[in-house]
Amino acid sequence: MREVAFKILRFDPEKDSKPHWESYRVELEPTDRVLDGLEAIKGSVDGSLSLRRSCAHGVCGSDAMLINGRNRLACKVLVKNVKQPIAIEPMRGFKVIKDLIVDMEGFFSKYRQVSPYLIEAGPAPEKERLQSPEERERFDDTTKCILCGACTTSCPSFWADPDYIGPAAIVQAHRFIFDSRDAGKEKRLKIMNEKEGVWRCRTVFNCVEACPRGINVTRAIAEVKQALVRGKV
Ligand code: SF4
Ligand code: F3S
Ligand code: FES
Repeated sequence: MREVAFKILRFDPEKDSKPHWESYRVELEPTDRVLDGLEAIKGSVDGSLSLRRSCAHGVCGSDAMLINGRNRLACKVLVKNVKQPIAIEPMRGFKVIKDLIVDMEGFFSKYRQVSPYLIEAGPAPEKERLQSPEERERFDDTTKCILCGACTTSCPSFWADPDYIGPAAIVQAHRFIFDSRDAGKEKRLKIMNEKEGVWRCRTVFNCVEACPRGINVTRAIAEVKQALVRGKV
């Protein structure tokens, strides 16, 4: 065990007029994750620290936050791999509800806009809707999204224009637009072509850097843009 230093940007709307940094030191193993450190702080130093977490294994996407200035999942970063004091901040561009908890309602409403589910063409077949390995490959990368918000909140186009639909919603649209079984492509492409759709992306690439699932977000956005230009997927 060794002492690990953290500084966390705290904000309680009931007490604070603006966010402020607070410092903490907790005993951790080098192989502990940043999330373990935050839980140790919450559990034994200051129970009022507020954060989201669920799976603790990089699957649910609920603990995305800025760790030393980069959007990461706290449960996937080992304390031994980051410089101290480990600086923790809420994701940028969303309203802070308390400490590390941000308001994701706008994010999920954009997700819902793209109809993120398979829209069936015609009645269900007796057994299954067949798809070749090549057809499945076209949207394989974008199936990996866990909706953590790290891409959208690292995007300067989104910071400048919060109405921009954002990379996460485009990734979700891509997943269905390029699915050969789906019958909702036109509807989704129409949304992508609107003022706040894909054309707001200026190919900054921050989203690729931020994605904890290694999704090539910029390539997915480019493929949607190409489909719009060509008028077909
Ligand atoms: Fe998170 Fe990556 Fe999905 Fe964006 S594309 S929401 S960064 S998993
Ligand atoms: Fe933003 Fe990613 Fe485009 S960072 S501008 S969505 S390439
Ligand atoms: Fe689920 Fe980190 S807690 S991804």
